[in-house]
Order: sequence, then C-alpha cells, then structure tokens
Amino acid sequence: MEVKTIFVVGAGQMGSGIAQVAAQAGFQVLLSDVSEKIIAAGRENIAKQLERAQEKGKLQETVGAVLERIRPALDLSAGASADAVIEAVVEKEQIKKDTFKKLDGICPPHTIFASNTSSISITKIASATQRPEKVVGMHFFNPAPVMRLVEIVKGYLTSQETVETIRQLAQAMGKETILAKDYPGFLSTRIGMPVINEGVYALYQGLGSVEDIDKANRLGLNHPMGPLELADLVGIDTIVNVLEILYEGHGDPKYFPCPLLRQMVVAGHLGRKTGRGFYDYSGKEKKPAL
Ligand SMILES: NC(=O)c1ccc[n+]([C@@H]2O[C@H](COP(=O)([O-])OP(=O)(O)OC[C@H]3O[C@@H](n4cnc5c(N)ncnc54)[C@H](O)[C@@H]3O)[C@@H](O)[C@H]2O)c1
Repeated sequence: MEVKTIFVVGAGQMGSGIAQVAAQAGFQVLLSDVSEKIIAAGRENIAKQLERAQEKGKLQETVGAVLERIRPALDLSAGASADAVIEAVVEKEQIKKDTFKKLDGICPPHTIFASNTSSISITKIASATQRPEKVVGMHFFNPAPVMRLVEIVKGYLTSQETVETIRQLAQAMGKETILAKDYPGFLSTRIGMPVINEGVYALYQGLGSVEDIDKANRLGLNHPMGPLELADLVGIDTIVNVLEILYEGHGDPKYFPCPLLRQMVVAGHLGRKTGRGFYDYSGKEKKPAL
C-alpha cells in the first residue's frame, strides 16, 4: 500500500519530531493537537530544528519547503485524507482509544492506524476500532529526527501486510526497525524503564548525587545519557504513566514507580519540557535541581 499523506495526532515533543521526520522524507503531513496554540508551538519547534540542520549542512532543501508539507489540522476531520495516522498523544489508554474510535469513523477504510505508544497494548487500542488488522505500534525514540530506531509492535490482530507497510514507511523515513510482540513495554521500554526507575530510587535513597548517578551510567556503562538526564528528556509524567502500565501489566513490583517521580509530577517538574526536573534548564548550562 502506498502512503502519501500522514496524519500526526499530538504535536508535543514526539508528535512534532515525527511530523518533521515525515515531512523531510517527502510525505504530506497533517499535524493536530487539542489547541491551535500547541500546534503552532510544535511547528515553531520543527522550524528551529530544521534551521539547525540547515546550518550544519544536513538539509537537502530549504526550511520553508519542508515546512510547507506540514499543514496544521484543527480537528480530527483532517483524517479523511490520510493514508496513515501516527498518534502521539499523552500516554493514557483511554485517550488513545477515544482518539482512534473517532478516527475510525472519519478515515477511509485503507488508512493505517499507528500508535507511538511506549507501553500501551496495541491490541487494546485496536479494540476501540473496527479495523484491528490495520492497527499497529510505530514506536519512535526521542528526539525522533535523531534516533535511528523504530520499534514496530504487532498486536494480536495486526495483519502482516500492515506490519510490512509500516516497515517500509519507517525505512522511507531513514529508520532501522525491530519487531516486537504486544506485551507491556514491548522490547525497548521494558528494558529501558527499569534503568531509569533504579536511578531515581538510588537518588531517593540518598545513595549518590544527581550528577554522580548519571556519570555512573555514562562513563561506567557507556550509556550516552545517565538515567536522570534521560528521565528529564523523556518527561517525568510520561515515565510515571509508562511505569504504571508496566507495573500493572506484568504484576511485578520491580516496575513500581519511585515515589519521587510522582512528587515531581504533582510539583509540575516534568523535565526539559517544563524547564526543570532532575536538572534546572533555566541557565545556559543545566544544573542539578535536587
Ligand atoms: N517522550 C519520549 O521520550 C517518548 C519516546 C517514545 C514514545 N513516546 C510516546 O509518545 C507519546 C507522546 O509523548 P510526548 O513525549 O510527545 O508527550 P508530550 O506531553 O510532549 O505531548 C503529548 C501531546 O498530546 C496532546 N494531547 C493530549 N490529549 C490529546 C488529544 N485528545 N488529542 C490530541 N492531542 C492530545 C497534548 O496536548 C500534548 O501536546 C506518548 O504515548 C509517549 O509514551 C514518548
């Protein structure tokens, strides 16, 4: 199946990154969120990233030419002209189900429904639609324009044809792919989240400083980022939502979110996106905030 137009639903850090990747790969992109203001902020963020890429000589065409392929969509009715939807709304099962249920009544029968969820069951999301064979996980990593992997998740009823279309779509966007079965956290999140949660527990138990915990993983384990830096990049709210899904889905206490993470969410310290998490991003250089 040929995909020409992609409807990206959710213009936060992942949605805007995915819209950028898709537009740079030549696809027509429609980008939506709950308000015009958020869509505009998402497009502004894309423009900044594209300008940086241009300065580094990494953009084949003008910033304007790429941006022209990303049109704002004020509601889900834009899905009527989409060959594929890539959903990147908040990590909440009911919100994702409601979104796809509405889209099911709007999009043509051939439209593929891909979710960028980090942990929610694709089979559950698909159950909100009348086209479960066309519902699939397309899990990008943060920041989407930089990270090379897309994890494809095959739900219980996802067809092989849908998996193949998404594999080709990811490849057209310059990504490598892996295939995972539909089990809480799939492959990458299941492996990565306990590392973050352990780092946060180490801080919570007073075992070391924010900087030393990150340094341990960077220099000792050769990870590009420490667990607390990574938590700030992902978003503390998203981390808590994902850990809760892993905890419930596996019934294993090792996934129980550290209470410090919940406190940070209540305090509104969500990481880079709010300017403060484990680090403070208000100055030129980030400083430990805890
Ligand atoms: N942050 C990461 O590192 C990362 C990595 C891979 C996957 N993901 C997944 O991507 C998804 C989005 O995460 P994010 O980091 O971009 O979060 P974010 O908070 O930056 O963005 C979420 C966006 O969803 C919007 N939204 C909420 N309800 C909506 C609705 N009903 N319709 C349309 N838009 C709605 C919000 O306004 C917000 O702009 C989540 O499923 C998350 O698990 C995140």
